[in-house]
Amino acid sequence: MTTVEETGGSWWRDAVVYQLYIRSFADGDGDGLGDIAGIRARLGYLRDLGVDALWINPWYPSPMADAGYDVADYRAVEPAFGTGEDAAALVREAHGLGLRVILDIVPNHTSDQHAWFRAAVAAGPGSPERARYHFRPGVGDAPPNDWRSVFGGPAWTRLPDGDWYLHLFDSAQPALNWNLPEVRAEFESILRFWFDRGVDGFRIDVAHALDKDADLPDVGGEEEAMLAAAGGDGHPFWDRDGVHEIYRGWRRVADSYAEQKVFVAEAWVSSPERLIRYLRPDELHTAFNFDYLGAPWDPAALRTVIDASLSTMHAVDAPATWVLSNHDVVRHVSRLGRPLASGHSLNDLPPHETLDRALGRRRARAAALLLFALPGGAYVYQGDELGLWEVEDLPDDVRQDPAWRRSGGAEIGRDGCRVPLPWSGTEAPFGFSPDGAAGAPWLPQPADFAGVTAQAQDGDPASMLTLYRTALALRRAVPQLGDGPMEWLPAEPGVLAFSRGEGFTCLVNLSDAPIALPGGRVLLATEALSGSLPVDAAVWLTDR
Ligand code: GLC
Repeated sequence: MTTVEETGGSWWRDAVVYQLYIRSFADGDGDGLGDIAGIRARLGYLRDLGVDALWINPWYPSPMADAGYDVADYRAVEPAFGTGEDAAALVREAHGLGLRVILDIVPNHTSDQHAWFRAAVAAGPGSPERARYHFRPGVGDAPPNDWRSVFGGPAWTRLPDGDWYLHLFDSAQPALNWNLPEVRAEFESILRFWFDRGVDGFRIDVAHALDKDADLPDVGGEEEAMLAAAGGDGHPFWDRDGVHEIYRGWRRVADSYAEQKVFVAEAWVSSPERLIRYLRPDELHTAFNFDYLGAPWDPAALRTVIDASLSTMHAVDAPATWVLSNHDVVRHVSRLGRPLASGHSLNDLPPHETLDRALGRRRARAAALLLFALPGGAYVYQGDELGLWEVEDLPDDVRQDPAWRRSGGAEIGRDGCRVPLPWSGTEAPFGFSPDGAAGAPWLPQPADFAGVTAQAQDGDPASMLTLYRTALALRRAVPQLGDGPMEWLPAEPGVLAFSRGEGFTCLVNLSDAPIALPGGRVLLATEALSGSLPVDAAVWLTDR
């Protein structure tokens, strides 16, 4: 077995990172909420899956107004998830199995229950405590400006003393004032706190939002336009040039460690050119590729986004990354099973009647082989490997996403991709919680999860789980995969064909007819082959 000490320093350049949405992964103590004990009990599963690193969504103490993205204390663990000792044990055990651990840091805002915000509320208008956030008087009875919350409604909430505070997300997520040196110093200290405990890196939540125009000018225009990713200093809060100085400081912290510490940016920006500004050599290491996530199942669109990603990343010597799903978007089986669907919100999707789940699953298999064959790093959202779909029919009264609440139901929210994983058995909680658990899973699981539990898929040659395990094992064994060059090969219309170095070829058939297979030995295919590659299927070939 390879421990993390034995793998190289640039592991992150082509790591496969598994996203652990902790509350929905596995429940160790039977309260219906996933926890650290649940993760520790499944580390063997993750090692066997063949991933290199784990990214754990926020596990800090939180009132859970936004599922943990409202952090009350950045240096501790939410009691419902475990203790600091549990966290330390998890990092140690993961490292022993060769798995790196990446935490999620939330620097744009704290919880309204964070000590700083409580002090700010108590201290009153004009106090130094309020300077850590964005407090302003209103304009008469109206908020200070026209900014809207990403989750709906105004981005300002008024306190009884008349002052308003800014929150780009829920009102329980007050935005920090990053112009203050104290805020900058505090976050560098938080990074060190976890790095000192062996954590290997951070995913940075809304990395593009930290710097706000201090004059807080109106954005003007429609809500949609205001919230759309914008490039450059034209926008008062998205992707402003001032964020980069912050990340240069973070990079200095990371580089002060002997072991490799890494950052991955969650930055929804307007173009790959804007994205790579976060990845200059003295800034962050990698970033999620949301252009790829949002690309439709269309050969020209995919090829365009792949080429744009690779050429721009190359300019800053950063590896590309590839991702199909996460805890904020509709699961890709449910996107790919619809006519030319892209987008990441259920509200953007064609109606439910247009969903063909078998088609979505078939395309998701092909998409997985494409993903793992591309140069650079890859992200797997928990449940991708089981072929989970979006649960679109959750009853309204179980929905918890603040986006659902704040938009008055206009936004369906993200609960449908966050349903607890099915591990085993034929009825809920499908092994998510231990037998005889006191609490039901925090979101109800649909009955048809019975067919896709990890146990049901284990050893089944046709299952998604077997495909993922086989693909990831090959990714380790085939030296051309991971970081390195790729070259498009001539192919029939509608087919993506490329080589990775000498002797490895990936073919994805997005046309509407089977295509003849070229020569070579089949390493892995997503469907049965008989001399041809069927529609919506992919194959890996080698000439050795
Ligand atoms: C990020 C997270 C999302 C969260 C938001 C506010 O986009 O991924 O889940 O709601 O930031 O913190």
